[in-house]
Amino acid sequence: MAQAFAAFRSIGAYVPEKRLSNADLEKMVDTSDEWIVKRTGIKERRIAERDESTSDMGAKAARVAIERAGINADEIDLIVCATVTPDFFNMPATACLIAEKLGINNVQAFDISAACSGFVYALSLAKAFVESGMKRHVLIIGAEKFSSIVDYSDRTTCILFGDGAGAALISASENPDEGIVDVHASADGSYADFLVTPAPGSVNPCSHEAIEQGLCYVKMKGNETFKLAVKTLTNDVKSILAKNKIEASDIPHFIPHQANYRIIKAVGDALGMREDQVVLTVHKYGNTSAASIPMAINDLYECGGLHYGELMLLDTFGGGLTWASALLPFAPAQN
Ligand code: UT7
Repeated sequence: MAQAFAAFRSIGAYVPEKRLSNADLEKMVDTSDEWIVKRTGIKERRIAERDESTSDMGAKAARVAIERAGINADEIDLIVCATVTPDFFNMPATACLIAEKLGINNVQAFDISAACSGFVYALSLAKAFVESGMKRHVLIIGAEKFSSIVDYSDRTTCILFGDGAGAALISASENPDEGIVDVHASADGSYADFLVTPAPGSVNPCSHEAIEQGLCYVKMKGNETFKLAVKTLTNDVKSILAKNKIEASDIPHFIPHQANYRIIKAVGDALGMREDQVVLTVHKYGNTSAASIPMAINDLYECGGLHYGELMLLDTFGGGLTWASALLPFAPAQN
């Protein structure tokens, strides 16, 4: 069999209907629209319904990606779901529930936990599985119901996060020009306390105390995370571009993790990116963690801005701490 290249065939996303605006948050905590927009660029975020789970959103995004890829769901031979807000802590995996919702009952399916870097981590797995010849069609999903772990009385976190899902189909191709060029994924656990949900887990099992002390909510050292994010992302992106001998100015689509407009701007400026290269959704979705990058790719696609062969540069940073970057062409099947 000819050598397999991992082609990014399609993108899909799901965005919940309900909007949480800065004006809504002004009524909940001591904050203001002016502060939130100035410090983060966020104007509103989407919030899932009480009875809408991470796997519901992931399955909806996946259906769009599968339909756009033009394959049957039962041709998929691996499903990877990146999430830190799974349906259940910690089993069954959200990927198994998504498989069931897609009507696929005999497929390898598992979750990965890499916080906001999860989708690009999943992309690195898809690349490896496809290029090794082990899998032919890999469905990767980033899905988060962050509202399920946000403390809506903590103004330092509740203004940032939103819910949503994105999915992509990565398939084997014989055309080297269609293959994912490179993925870099890394972590440094010495910063684990920068972003953490302390319970439930083996350190703080489920208990009345854990709930009373608010340990089931996400905690973040925002300012420290911000500074490290700018430095790490800038270095990481410079390194993947240099390794692949590509100039930042030659990238048509820079699609960064949508955590904070100031981080995106600082990294973009350090790389010398023009405004028209940078994809922005942070103003309307906030930070949707693992879903942020595929939701942004989907926005670009649905606006008619993403075409066959165009190069995407992804970069992301999140809890762990983890970070990742990727260079890849958009490669829908050519019939
Ligand atoms: O996706 C995973 C990675 N996550 C990130 O990358 C998030 C990175 N961090 C950030 O985006 C920013 O650090 C925040 C948006 C979270 C905070 O912005 P900041 O410019 O770093 O503010 P700060 O934490 O240094 O706080 C500045 C001031 C403080 O008041 P004092 O001490 O100066 O009086 C805060 O108490 O702003 C205050 N503050 C707020 N004021 C109004 C913090 N949150 C709010 C708020 N509304 N929501």
